[in-house]
This record gives sequence, structure tokens and C-alpha cells, in this order.
Amino acid sequence: MRNTTGSLAATLVLTTGLAAANGQDDGGVEMSGPALFKSYCASCHGADAKGDGPVAHLLAYRPADLTQVAARDRGRFDRRKVHRIIDGRDPVKGRGGPDMPLWGDAFKLAGGSYSDAEVDQRIESLVEYLEALQPR
Ligand code: HEC
Repeated sequence: MRNTTGSLAATLVLTTGLAAANGQDDGGVEMSGPALFKSYCASCHGADAKGDGPVAHLLAYRPADLTQVAARDRGRFDRRKVHRIIDGRDPVKGRGGPDMPLWGDAFKLAGGSYSDAEVDQRIESLVEYLEALQPR
């Protein structure tokens, strides 16, 4: 299962990466949280981030409901921790199962030559987007 989902994630990254190469990535469009989420996250987490994306049922672990990140963390939205979960290169214990891709690496590859700062900026846009999705 690990391998299947690993290559599924790689395929998703590749296809979305190609979409970016088709010109969606200029003009800063792909740097916005909502656009990034739609391109890279909605397939698993769902357009509404509730964990019911079109490929969710193919995974061994159900993608998390991302509107409940704070609720699962005693009501606190820890931006640094969420950033690290999404990046994935510096795993946070207990968060983001094995089916959650390492976006830090994926964004670097998708952009061809994204710098660490650019990768960080993309992840930060996603963190902001997710923070805004938390019910108050
Ligand atoms: C291949 C499917 C897949 C894609 C694509 C994906 N995720 Fe995930 N994600 C998961 C799975 C599976 C989990 C783990 C659920 C668990 O461990 O309970 C997860 C967990 C998470 C968590 C931890 C939530 C929590 O409170 O524990 C965050 C944050 C997250 N994903 C954000 C993102 C973002 C942002 C993107 C897009 C850049 C993304 N994910 C794309 C499958 C995916």
C-alpha cells in the first residue's frame, strides 16, 4: 500500500507540476493559498478541505479534515507545526500519516528550481489559507 500511494502522490505532483508548466505558475497565481490548495491538496483533502477528495478512497489513511486542524490541537492553530506537517521534511510526531506527501520536496521538484525561500513561501500561503478555514 505504501508504494501504491507513494506513486499516486508522485503522479499527482507530476500532473499538477505539468499544469504549472503550462503557464499557471506565472504572475504569482500559483503562489496564492486557494490556488495552491486547489492544485495540490484538493484531490485528497477535498475542495472544501473536509478530507473527501476524489482520490481519498484510494488511500490507506483517510486524508484529514483540514477545517478541524485547530480543533484536533486543543483549539489552537499552531502555524509553525502546520507548516512543518505540510513541508514533511522535518516530520512532526503523530501528524500527517504516511500517505501525506512531502510537499517541501514536491514543490522544489515541481518548480524545477524553486529555492527554499520560494518553497517556504508557498507553504506559508497554504498555512494562511488553512488557518482561515478553521471555524471560529
Ligand atoms: C495523496 C493524498 C494527499 C494530498 C495530495 C495531500 N494530503 Fe494532506 N494528508 C493526507 C493524509 C492521508 C493525511 C494524514 C491523515 C492522518 O494522519 O490522520 C494528511 C494530513 C494532512 C495534515 C495534518 C492534519 C492534522 O491536523 O493532523 C495537513 C495540515 C495536511 N495534510 C495538509 C495538506 C496540504 C496543505 C496539502 C497540499 C499541499 C495536502 N495535505 C495534500 C493526504 C494528502
